[in-house]
Amino acid sequence: MLSFGSPFVSHSPEETIAKGRELAQRLTPPVLVMLAGELGSGKTTFTKGIISGLGAAEENEVTSPTFTLVHVFQHRSTLAGPAAPAISVSHALKDVKNLEYAVAPPLKIYHVDLYRIEGFADLETLGLEDALSESAIVIIEWPERFSLRSEWPRISARLEHLEGDSRRITISEPFLSENGATNALNTP
Ligand SMILES: Nc1ncnc2c1ncn2[C@@H]1O[C@H](COP(=O)(O)OP(=O)(O)OP(=O)(O)O)[C@@H](O)[C@H]1O
Ligand SMILES: [Mg+2]
Repeated sequence: MLSFGSPFVSHSPEETIAKGRELAQRLTPPVLVMLAGELGSGKTTFTKGIISGLGAAEENEVTSPTFTLVHVFQHRSTLAGPAAPAISVSHALKDVKNLEYAVAPPLKIYHVDLYRIEGFADLETLGLEDALSESAIVIIEWPERFSLRSEWPRISARLEHLEGDSRRITISEPFLSENGATNALNTP
């Protein structure tokens, strides 16, 4: 069970991925997920859980966007949660029940790593403005490197090294800006 504010100790990459999957079940776009923590603390590993939990990719397809700075994933369902059935449009059109899936805009998930960002010019090349103009889930590693202006609800998680393969993961209460959207989270 995901609890905001109280630290969780993960003893393996698998446990960290499982925690990311739990968070995925609680996310509703638009939302910024800020992942802080030093090198190797497990931010990308946690993101594998979030993105696979959203049904947008397999864990092993989620890799560090260290050099490209952004990876984009797409998912047919408009809601976070387990993947919607994969349906081709032509098939869906024969089946009215599934029409909603065929016409729903895809949910986009952006996985961003700002570790190497040099400044605003760099940021502009990333297409993040597009991300922030639609309803997406934007996961940001090294968010403290560049402050993004956005009214979107934010969830912050901090990952810290403990001994060996242990990591402390603290997921803060969602922060809603005064003017921002208010439904960052699914109720469990
Ligand atoms: N409990 C754990 N949780 C997460 N990762 C772990 C854990 N134990 C060991 N690891 C290992 O630590 C490494 C974490 O790397 P990862 O790329 O996820 O970190 P990161 O915080 O994204 O680093 P960077 O700042 O370089 O992007 C991986 O090699 C992973 O297998
Ligand atoms: Mg990383």
